[in-house]
Amino acid sequence: MPSTDRGERSVRPEAGFGAEATSDKRTDHAYLQSSAVSGPSDCVQYAVDLGGLRLVTADAVVPYEPHGALDPARLAHLDRLLAETAGSPTIVALHHPPFRTLLGPLDEIGLKVGADQLAALISRHQRIERVICGHFHRSIQARWAGTLAMCAPSTAHQLVLDLGVEAPAVFAMEPPGFLMHAWDEAGTVVSHQVAIGEFPDEKAAASAILAAAAGGSLSNIETTVAMTAKEATATFQSAGKAAKAFRSAGRS
Ligand SMILES: [Fe+2]
Repeated sequence: MPSTDRGERSVRPEAGFGAEATSDKRTDHAYLQSSAVSGPSDCVQYAVDLGGLRLVTADAVVPYEPHGALDPARLAHLDRLLAETAGSPTIVALHHPPFRTLLGPLDEIGLKVGADQLAALISRHQRIERVICGHFHRSIQARWAGTLAMCAPSTAHQLVLDLGVEAPAVFAMEPPGFLMHAWDEAGTVVSHQVAIGEFPDEKAAASAILAAAAGGSLSNIETTVAMTAKEATATFQSAGKAAKAFRSAGRS
């Protein structure tokens, strides 16, 4: 999503809002390859000019395996794609996180083969603004290969945040989300994490109103502590009225 230096936003429908595909283990390569992309015959890697930003994909799929791998042929092809417009702001996308997340056993199903070689390759090229991935169903960032590596949250369920060595990889029904990357004509790239849904719900909103009424804001908690019992009672009563009258966004 490009933006101008005047603060205007122009959305390019052809950019697809992240609809460009990267492969995962269930990918039908024959289908994707029929979409006229280039690269070694056993994978799908391509570059797209998004208008001021280039998207280059790496295909780390190992059919029917949960982990990712980049062999020398795929790395060499990726190197050529990155060299085509060397120096242009570029985002590299692949499905499997190439960096260690410290999420217990999950790192065993990241980019298990070729991660060091990919890091060396990425660090050789200029203006790699991001390396983006998914697969782990959590928002995770790391400085990696001289750039910022980002794992997007899932648009469905998340995985439990547990840094224990033996932590089980189990679902967590945290709010879904996605990453939105925006850039301007100067090539500045910013990444926003976006939660999908309406938050907070009525109870949380009532709590926020209560805190705001008592202290002025959620971050002004000292004021609340300094209140007398009489003041607190009056504040709770008025906050209760406000909470009853509250309607969440989108509801009448
Ligand atoms: Fe995956």
